Amino acid sequence: MRKKITIIGAGNVGATAAHWAASRGIADVVLVDVVEGVPQGKALDLSQAGPVDGFPFSVTGSNDFADSADSDVVIITAGLARKPGMSRDDLLAKNVAIVKSCSEQAAKYSPDAVLIVVTNPIDAMVYTGFKVSGFPKNRVIGMAGVLDSARYRTFLAQALGVAPRDVNAMVMGIHGDKMMPLIRLANVAGVPVSDLLSDDELAAIVHRTQTGGAEIVNHLKTGSAFYTPGLAAVEMAEAVLTDSKRVLPCAAYLEGEFGISGCFLGVPVVIGSEGVEKIMEFKLTDEEQTALHESEKAVHVQMEATGL
Ligand code: LAC
Repeated sequence: MRKKITIIGAGNVGATAAHWAASRGIADVVLVDVVEGVPQGKALDLSQAGPVDGFPFSVTGSNDFADSADSDVVIITAGLARKPGMSRDDLLAKNVAIVKSCSEQAAKYSPDAVLIVVTNPIDAMVYTGFKVSGFPKNRVIGMAGVLDSARYRTFLAQALGVAPRDVNAMVMGIHGDKMMPLIRLANVAGVPVSDLLSDDELAAIVHRTQTGGAEIVNHLKTGSAFYTPGLAAVEMAEAVLTDSKRVLPCAAYLEGEFGISGCFLGVPVVIGSEGVEKIMEFKLTDEEQTALHESEKAVHVQMEATGL
């Protein structure tokens, strides 16, 4: 049976996710948006890349959530994006209403799907999706760790002059300024980065990672990043659709893991057809544990603001 992926929101992130999903050939893609014509036009354009790019799947656009029915994965990207000077939290009030409505529709038409939430502030919006959809915790996942870790790996690779794919590094915690790029576990083909870069160089890379989204917002002025956010969501969706058991840092619902309960935070997880199939818990240093609790505090403030 062909797999089906619905992407809600045909803005920059949603359309780019559709592009990556089509090009990677992971499933039939449905792009849904409330704005008339935009999902149809972008999907039609993208579908016409099929003969050139070679992907065998369909790409369709719609304003009707009924066309998303029976999706294996639903990615929610709908919502406002940041402008210069705005924090992700500034988006919360408007985006919570949008994510609520999208999650209701996703649950109605695709009751067995895995829901991936990309809308900011991600850790609170994925909690919103979890509450509203009524899906079990394993089938609701927040995107951010893949994006933040990709930024971290890119900056490390640039500093070292090595291929980005050979840099293994992970960012845990909230998708915000208190995110935790882990230095202890970062390595290049197994060689610890702390043996290759000075403390000052590493501190600068950690800071640049933590403010990586804002750096792009400040360049663009009219919106936020979309190429890598779109790809990060598709990377997670592909792991679900292929049941590949990829280990990816994602916002997962914690119930005691890492000493934290009752919220979504970025942690390494095993992703397969059931969504989050396992949280890969490991021992943190005291400093890392303290930093993760800082993320937890920040996410609780956001969760209270959702009113859920
Ligand atoms: C960023 C947005 C997706 O970090 O929050 O670019």
